[in-house]
Amino acid sequence: MINPYESDELLQQYLVFHYASAAEQFPYPFGGADALDFPKRCALQGPDVTKIKTGSRALDLGCSVGRSSFELARYCEEVIGIDYSHAFIDAATRMQADGVHPATRLDEGSASTALEVSVDSEIDRGRVSFEQGDAQAIRNDIGQFEVVIACNLICRLPEPMKVLNRLIELVKPGGQLFITTPFTWLEEFTPSENWLGDGAQDSFAGLIHALEPSFKLEKRWDMQFLIREHARKFQYSIAQASRWTRV
Ligand SMILES: C[S@@+](CC[C@H](N)C(=O)[O-])C[C@H]1O[C@@H](n2cnc3c(N)ncnc32)[C@H](O)[C@@H]1O
Repeated sequence: MINPYESDELLQQYLVFHYASAAEQFPYPFGGADALDFPKRCALQGPDVTKIKTGSRALDLGCSVGRSSFELARYCEEVIGIDYSHAFIDAATRMQADGVHPATRLDEGSASTALEVSVDSEIDRGRVSFEQGDAQAIRNDIGQFEVVIACNLICRLPEPMKVLNRLIELVKPGGQLFITTPFTWLEEFTPSENWLGDGAQDSFAGLIHALEPSFKLEKRWDMQFLIREHARKFQYSIAQASRWTRV
């Protein structure tokens, strides 16, 4: 399969999804707007930030073009974002270096709008670094983290259990893990024998089975998100969010 996350179409879609303003993404007075800013909400509402101590490290698995990684740097001193897509990591790295990136927002058919998206100047971008890599085979010398997030990643992996098993050593005892997933299982990404929860009969039960007893489930809730395809077509999805503490 050609990796869709290497395409320019998805690169532009994700630059807009992560960084464009509400008015640029969804210029309508009804519906939808509550589902904007998902990557920012993941970083700031996913982990319990009141429990994060000074000097903490964070890891953002499947970071895409990096918005959550930058938001984590508001309260973590070092943040590493890892994604398998070279195109996404190139864009995230340019955002880290320059603080801005050009983006093309599709409006309709052959009409588009050139945008310049940016990282909030209050964020210390020097705290953040990005690596192209496979979340299922993270380098052994990466160390441990007080915060690990994996947002909408696990149902895009051939072997989600590889990541879930590795989290036990990546998250420090007492540290926090935040996972979101819409459980959109597709054979093209994940062979059905690897779908969590008895072939995705009950995916969240499968997640609990994979993480307990090394992790304690603190909270689970629903998180809506909106991805713009063009001015009149949006994907509105509801991710299953869960916060865990490493025992
Ligand atoms: C649905 S997107 C979610 C991106 C981002 N976390 C967000 O919430 O916007 C899935 C991401 O996982 C990345 N990905 C897919 N397989 C991966 C792997 N094996 N290792 C690391 N990242 C991967 C894709 O490149 C893509 O950026």
